[in-house]
Amino acid sequence: MPDQEATIGVIGGSGLYDMDGMTDVHYIDVDTPYGKPSDSVVVGTLEGTRVAFLPRHGRGHRINPTGIPVRANIYALKVLGVQRLISVSAVGSLKEDFAPLDLVVPDQIIDRTRQRHNTFFDEGVVAHVGFAEPFCPGASSVIAASGQEVGVTTHLGGTMIVMEGPAFSTKAESFMYRSWGAGIIGMTALPEAKLAREAEMCYATMAWITDYDCWHESEETVTVEMVVQNLLQNVAHSKEMLHKVIPQLVPSENCGCNAALKDAIITDPRGISE
Ligand code: ADE
Repeated sequence: MPDQEATIGVIGGSGLYDMDGMTDVHYIDVDTPYGKPSDSVVVGTLEGTRVAFLPRHGRGHRINPTGIPVRANIYALKVLGVQRLISVSAVGSLKEDFAPLDLVVPDQIIDRTRQRHNTFFDEGVVAHVGFAEPFCPGASSVIAASGQEVGVTTHLGGTMIVMEGPAFSTKAESFMYRSWGAGIIGMTALPEAKLAREAEMCYATMAWITDYDCWHESEETVTVEMVVQNLLQNVAHSKEMLHKVIPQLVPSENCGCNAALKDAIITDPRGISE
């Protein structure tokens, strides 16, 4: 494989701006039809596997959730050869037994974003990809198993709300999300997961709980300080887990993510000229 390619991608969230232990590292600036990605993509070798790493908020945390150039990020990773993508993010808990510092590997998602480009197919080509199962089950199981291996309290499954932000939720919203049965809330997994599906990549999330949002009677309401404090405790775990997860993500796994566009594109046969 050429030096500047990788089959596994990692998008780091708040607090995760680099990956330890990569060798043969290249910083690559990719220009895309959607503009520049959040930052240079770091391509290197980790545990014998070529990996492309991209911090979604940019190094130094410059970009707020609404401003993340998600189409450019996914496009850049696709161009570099990424087939399976792990996203790391900080989330609030909407359930008593999802406690701060726990890891959740969600299996469902509810879209509460409002101001984001959420498709590559908005000009000329019409496509409706299947999104009933938004996360790759194979990659999710690998993440959950490695969470248990490193001694983190791990929950496999749960519904994630993705809100627009940047303000946190009101109490009324937080109670409403709880009544919907949601388990966690964050600001960045969409449109990332949808665009990764359109790009036919596996996508799975390592969601670290930093707070109980604002619904809990006896726990403090979420603040940035709380998120940052708990996040820093989880960065070391994220890095340790990535060393275990990455070599297990065999690109050829038969999960179907790599054929998401099969039957998704609408074409009019009368438009084809001979
Ligand atoms: N990220 C971390 N905690 C959060 C919360 N309570 N709401 C939305 N995003 C978050």
